[in-house]
Amino acid sequence: MIVTTEKLFKAAYGKYAIGAYNINNLEQTMGLFQGNLDSKAPFIIQISKGARLYSHKKMLEAIIKQADEVFPDAIFAVHLDHGDEATCYDCIESGFYSSVMIDASHEDFDTNIAFTRRVVDAAHARGIVVEAELGQLGGVEEHVQVSEAEAKLTDPKKAREFVQRSGCDSLAVAIGTSHGAFKFKGSQSLHFDVLEQIQKELPGFPLVMHGSSSVPQDEVARINAAGGNMAGARGVDAGQFKRAAELGVTKINIDTDGRLVWTRVHREYFRDHPEVFDFRPIGKVFMQEYAKFIAQKNEYLGAAGQLDIIRKML
Ligand code: G3H
Ligand code: 13P
Ligand code: ZN
Repeated sequence: MIVTTEKLFKAAYGKYAIGAYNINNLEQTMGLFQGNLDSKAPFIIQISKGARLYSHKKMLEAIIKQADEVFPDAIFAVHLDHGDEATCYDCIESGFYSSVMIDASHEDFDTNIAFTRRVVDAAHARGIVVEAELGQLGGVEEHVQVSEAEAKLTDPKKAREFVQRSGCDSLAVAIGTSHGAFKFKGSQSLHFDVLEQIQKELPGFPLVMHGSSSVPQDEVARINAAGGNMAGARGVDAGQFKRAAELGVTKINIDTDGRLVWTRVHREYFRDHPEVFDFRPIGKVFMQEYAKFIAQKNEYLGAAGQLDIIRKML
C-alpha cells in the first residue's frame, strides 16, 4: 500500500527511523519488498533522476505498482530523491509519487526557499508531501559536486525560518554525512550537537539524514578480494541511527550499501563460476542477499517489527 511519508513519520518520530532505499531495477525492487516484509518494516522507495533515466521512468512506476500487488502486505511511500524543480513537477503530475524532494541546497538561502515554496504549493494541491534540504553534504550528488572542504553543515538558527517560509514537510539536514562510499578520511564525525540544536528549533518536525550508508568493512574486504579496488572506503556507524532517531531523524537514506551488496555478489559469483553466462542464477542470489541486507538495516533503524503497528494507525 502506498502512503505519504507524513503518516510514516508521525508514527516513527522520536522512536525510530524509516529506511529510504533507492531502486533502479526489478531485482532490487524484489529484494527490497521481500526484505521489508521479512523484517516487518514500513519503508520508503526512493527514485533518483538518474534511476528515472536508466530504465524509463514509467518502467520503474510499473515495477513498483506490480510489486504492490505481489506483496500486498507492504506499506511504503514512493519518493523522488534529489529532485530539481522540473523533475518534481513531472513526478507530482504523474500521480504516482507520494512524496518529492526538491534539492535546492546549493542555492542561497532565499533562492532555496523560493524554489521549495513553489514545489510545495504544487505538491500540496495534489496531496503530495515535500522534503527540502538546508546545508550541504560532502561528496558527489547527482547534479552538483560539493567538495569536502565546501560542505556546509545546516545552520540550526536558520532551520525554523526555512521551514516556516518554505512550507516543506520534512527537512534534510547536513550533520557530517556525505554521499558515496568514501565518507570519512579521518575520524568519523556525525555532528549530534548540531542535530540537537536543530531539533530544539524544530521540535516534532521530521528530519532526514542523507548519505547514511555504513560501507561495512567486511563487504569492502570481500569486494577487494574478488577483484575490486575500494581501498579506504568508509561510512556511517549504523549503531548511531537510533540516537539520530531520538533527535528527530525519521528518514535515513541508504543507497551505496545496496550497491556494495550488488558488487560483492556479482564479483564473487563470476570469480567462482567463470563458466556461467546466465543472469538468472546470479539474479536470484542477489535478490536473496539484498533482502537480507534490507532486513538487517531495518534492525539498526528500529523500523523492524513496526509494520503491524503502522497498519493499525492508517
Ligand atoms: O544521493 C544520491 C543517491 O545515492 C542516488 O544516486 O543519482 O546515482 O541514482 P544516483
Ligand atoms: P549513501 O550514498 O550514503 O547511500 O546516501 C544515499 C542518499 O543520500 C540518497 O539520497
Ligand atoms: Zn541523498
